[in-house]
Amino acid sequence: MTQTCVTAEQLQAAVAAWRQAGDSVSFVPTMGALHDGHIALVKEAQRHARRTVVSIFVNPTQFGPNEDYTRYPRQLEQDRALLAAAGCDALFAPEVATVYPPGFATSIDPGPLARQLEGVFRPGHFAGVATVVARLFGLVRPDYACFGEKDYQQLQIIRQTVRDLALPVQIIGVPTVRAADGLALSSRNAYLSATERTQALVLSATLRRIAAEAPGQPDCRVLLTAGEQAIAAAGFAIDYLALCDATTLTPVTAIDAPARVLVAAKIGKTRLIDNMAVLPTAS
Ligand code: PAJ
Repeated sequence: MTQTCVTAEQLQAAVAAWRQAGDSVSFVPTMGALHDGHIALVKEAQRHARRTVVSIFVNPTQFGPNEDYTRYPRQLEQDRALLAAAGCDALFAPEVATVYPPGFATSIDPGPLARQLEGVFRPGHFAGVATVVARLFGLVRPDYACFGEKDYQQLQIIRQTVRDLALPVQIIGVPTVRAADGLALSSRNAYLSATERTQALVLSATLRRIAAEAPGQPDCRVLLTAGEQAIAAAGFAIDYLALCDATTLTPVTAIDAPARVLVAAKIGKTRLIDNMAVLPTAS
């Protein structure tokens, strides 16, 4: 059975009872509109701990003034059913005032990692993410927390925050779940028209091509330029298509160490992101 907790007291009573029984706790923070990508995180969480908490909270502080906070899909009943079917133990669906009570004033600046890629186009976004995740960790106090590689920069930033603040939680990264045609699952895919959904396949196709062709190339910039052209030709306005070191996310031009190719682009009103691993060829 999935318990629903709205207040911090309800959540903490549930977690305290599990702790009393000696159970470990895994946590999956989400903004809801759940899909198979989120459920993969729940399944991974269940492999690590006896109990699993999923939070659904559309966090206002990580949205920019012209972003989609008000129209972000909200479907709590459907999400609750999906979590029950997945065997999640508790759903934490707090009000804004529970996460940000009157007087709340702290903000975590995750440093240089947060100022590249997404950080250039969404200033303040990762401070909002790092702060809400740290606050949720404080409320749930999990042993493990699962994050998707779909939001690769977010995953690296959470690892950095946990390391820097010595938070007592182990972060687990989970591979991106894709539709059969390659599109990375995302709550924001709901915004796409049927035509845009087809056009969006260019993103994963381009990443796949770069991941396959970049290893061994002395200078990958030509590949990136060709990729940008393909993405633009499909009707997208590109924010970035970048090849970066997989840990520091600093740009690289050749694959000497594990790298990541990352893209953000807008079609119509919808902004999509995706990324893939680029591994050095065995020599
Ligand atoms: P949200 O976009 O709902 O994503 C919640 C978690 O699901 C994140 O860790 C994200 O990386 C993961 N996820 C999303 N799509 C995925 C996919 N196709 N495959 C695998 N994992 C996927 O990310 C957030 O919410 C918020 O920023 C949050 C961390 C909850 C803080 O507000």
